[in-house]
Amino acid sequence: MTATTAGPPAPPGTGASGTRTGRRAALRAAASRVLLANWTGTSTVPSHTLYPHQWSWDSAFIAVGLSRLSPRRAQRELETLLGAQWDDGRIPHIVFNPAVPLDAYFPSPDFWRSSTAGATAGAPPDIETSGIVQPPVHALAAWLVHESDPETSGRRGFLERVYPRLTAWHRYLHTNRDLGGAGLASVLHPWEPGMDNSPCWDRPLERVDPAPAASFRRADLTHGDAADRPTDLDYGRYVRLATDYRERGYADTDSNADVDTGTDVGTRAPHGFVVEDPGFNAFLIVSEHALAAIALTLGQEPRPHRERARALTTALVERLWHPEAGLFLCRDLRTGTPIEEKSVAGLLPLLVPDLPDDVVEALLRTASGEHFGLGSTTALAPSYDLRGRSFDSSRYWRGPAWFNINWAVERGLRQHGALARADDLRHAILSSAGASGFAEYVDPRTGRARGTTDFSWTAAVVLDLLARTEEPGEGGDR
Ligand code: SER
Repeated sequence: MTATTAGPPAPPGTGASGTRTGRRAALRAAASRVLLANWTGTSTVPSHTLYPHQWSWDSAFIAVGLSRLSPRRAQRELETLLGAQWDDGRIPHIVFNPAVPLDAYFPSPDFWRSSTAGATAGAPPDIETSGIVQPPVHALAAWLVHESDPETSGRRGFLERVYPRLTAWHRYLHTNRDLGGAGLASVLHPWEPGMDNSPCWDRPLERVDPAPAASFRRADLTHGDAADRPTDLDYGRYVRLATDYRERGYADTDSNADVDTGTDVGTRAPHGFVVEDPGFNAFLIVSEHALAAIALTLGQEPRPHRERARALTTALVERLWHPEAGLFLCRDLRTGTPIEEKSVAGLLPLLVPDLPDDVVEALLRTASGEHFGLGSTTALAPSYDLRGRSFDSSRYWRGPAWFNINWAVERGLRQHGALARADDLRHAILSSAGASGFAEYVDPRTGRARGTTDFSWTAAVVLDLLARTEEPGEGGDR
């Protein structure tokens, strides 16, 4: 479904929708309605139609927004997700709701078969999940949820409960997923970095034999316009990679194979797709800093987290920074070479606090230059190079602007002192989210809604940014 654009209605009885305060109140009320409608009792669906279960990185962003409505509910969101954590530490990318019919979403629980196929890796026996992961935004989210209401968080022992699970999650990423041997976490499926059909994956996916189209039935096209979604060929490859992972019991390395470190993962990690992604690792670094803050609050030792964040930052710059491109590039570990495509994932290290000055300056230039056009040809950062040969303004992660990513870019700009640009981006996120009916994503040039509407993380980042504009020293949104 391609949504038509619709602004948020004024809250009844205010009569003030024309004033800035009235508009902000209306936007807040409309965003709140989206999150309230998408709440299931223990967590929030990204969308009742397209994504009717709990998604991992969605829940992290949703918790940040929910904390502005109900800190208890925000805590519950993260704790429900963490309740489905595997014994090896992984947080699965989907936690299935058993009340939802199997054909409502593909790949369904009977595809992943986590409780049986994942038993050796420690999948829970009584909750069905997927077997892959998504970007580690969770510790950052937990910290922001705590910060939004430290009193409620402290009284409920929120940080005490989530800290051991979050550290186990990071341990999984630092060990099982360090498949390149350089300290960075690798992803094993295009859905793991969250940007499913980014042009970055076109070359690595050429090596993957697609599963036959007749062997599965997509559910997403029932609810989404085919022109906004990945192609059938993409899906065939997604299914092949997930099937192979499942058939290996969701093992990340093959202990019977030769250990081979260095740029090529060799036979140690027998996956068709193994990539180091700068966005995924940027979130990991920021979340490691969040773990340090959580540890300090709990009276525990923050230094190991700070040291890991520092080591990850060094590895990120050494492995994935490309000065000639002006941004970070993904690295294909099957070939040991960079992937020469400019994705917004390459700007996400702006989130990292301790980058070298020349890297920050180059990232700021690239963000507003011809490839991303932020503040010049586009108000929101597109997901992919505006001038790239594969740019598509409508199709999922091949060009459209996403609100969670722009929320992260806004934080990065603000952190590195680009305050006016951060204010402009904040204003653009708020007005585009409201005008698009809280779209899943938008055409970066026109702002036209794409994908589905009433999308939870879009509403969540609006609630967070509206609240932040009220805080001293946070800047405004006009
Ligand atoms: N984003 C993927 C989907 O469209 C996988 O989580 O279903």
